[in-house]
Amino acid sequence: MKYLWLYIVVIFYTISATAQNADLPNDFLSKAFYKARRAKLREKLPLNSVAVFFANPVRNRANDVDYVYHQDPDFYYLTGYKEPDAVLLVFKENQTSGKGAPYDEILFVEPRNELREMWTGRRLGEKGVKDLLSFEQAYNNSEFRKYNIDFSKFASILFFDFQNDVRDNPRDSADLYNLIVQFKSKVGYQEKNKSSLAVEPKKNNLDMSTLDVIMDDLRGIKTKEELEMVRKAVRISCAGQVEVMKAIKPGMSEREIAGIHEFVFKKYQAEDLGYPSIVGAGHNGCILHYEENYKPSISSSELILMDLGAEFHGYSADITRTIPVNGKFSPEQKQIYELVFKAQEAAMKICKPGTPFRELTLATRSVINKGLKELGIIQNETDKHLYYPHGCCHHIGLDVHDRGLYEKLEENMVITIEPGIYIPDNSACDKKWWGIAVRIEDDYLVTKEGYEHLSSSAPRTVKDIEAMMILPSALDDFILPNLDTKN
Ligand code: GLY
Ligand code: MN
Ligand code: MN
Repeated sequence: MKYLWLYIVVIFYTISATAQNADLPNDFLSKAFYKARRAKLREKLPLNSVAVFFANPVRNRANDVDYVYHQDPDFYYLTGYKEPDAVLLVFKENQTSGKGAPYDEILFVEPRNELREMWTGRRLGEKGVKDLLSFEQAYNNSEFRKYNIDFSKFASILFFDFQNDVRDNPRDSADLYNLIVQFKSKVGYQEKNKSSLAVEPKKNNLDMSTLDVIMDDLRGIKTKEELEMVRKAVRISCAGQVEVMKAIKPGMSEREIAGIHEFVFKKYQAEDLGYPSIVGAGHNGCILHYEENYKPSISSSELILMDLGAEFHGYSADITRTIPVNGKFSPEQKQIYELVFKAQEAAMKICKPGTPFRELTLATRSVINKGLKELGIIQNETDKHLYYPHGCCHHIGLDVHDRGLYEKLEENMVITIEPGIYIPDNSACDKKWWGIAVRIEDDYLVTKEGYEHLSSSAPRTVKDIEAMMILPSALDDFILPNLDTKN
């Protein structure tokens, strides 16, 4: 009974903390994940070294409006921290300098400030970082200036160079900029002059290249926990494609189609887009990274190419479907579509551990070049890349074009296979092919035996697409009033 009051206080705080967080999702990666990633990084660091990472800054859009904040993916991967103005140090060996017990990692974060949080939203602060992200050593970022460690003792200090990096721009985020300035002064990083950012290190222990390779190696192989996130992002993105197949009608705008996909993403709690949505009807589909999506009225005879990916808890999908606006492929559209499909299947057939990445691209190119020649669209199979100017594969993950090594496929890599044929108006071939653009892009997990086709729930064959497009959509009755005052 003596301790009853203490018991009540503990229960009260537990309940109020739970209530406070009740509205926050609890299905993010675990803190054990981030800790394990830092341990893996430490394993790969050279002897007597430290790796230094900076968070993304807040980027200014105009006046007092900033862009929506997005953490640097490497920083997120190692910390789970989603706020700006932070610096992470991971040491190869235990450090004994500074306060208290030995430590091998330390995170400096934005301090909590009630007034500021009324404007910017919740911050974790050093206590939150310790409790929720399992950092034993965490301090306010203002402490970084006073952080007393002799950097000259390390054989190497690994970091990403600041050249051409917007993070080195005081307009974007003064706090982060200050951290970088302090870091440069601590390690002896010097710029020759203001106009040229060339580095003239005082010491030769500054290493600005190795960390890229280490992070490629780490992030290219997904863990079980990460795969859950990727699968969810892919499922959500497939649901968007399915909904549009049912809802699309001639006369809709490209922007409206993008809006339907993006509405589905948000409905499933995807926080963001993995990249700007690409929705191009007819000739616009030939522009590989077409982001304007401006065409106000898509016509019945056109194909529409839709390359969109939801970002769920940081992880992005990357899926393209190309469908006929009126629900039925014309003979020419079908011929080109089937050719791209065949190219994708050829790459899928060799998608397994050990296959070099470039073999996948070569497999798709060979099918496409042969097929285009048979159709009389190119005269010579060596007229390569004319209508298929890009590679066919990349890693996906925390970035849509994710970090990863590009030699051979390995188990637990997640990649795209995305062949395409793009025939702009006025091309040197029969007019009947003009304005046909087809890309089919799917996401695959490389398994021990081959692959798992993650995005198979978005119809991909001509037959399945046409069958899906006949189905009704809940949006069929969604008619908004005309706001044009001229009518
Ligand atoms: N969405 C960009 C790409 O497919 O690579
Ligand atoms: Mn892609
Ligand atoms: Mn894509």
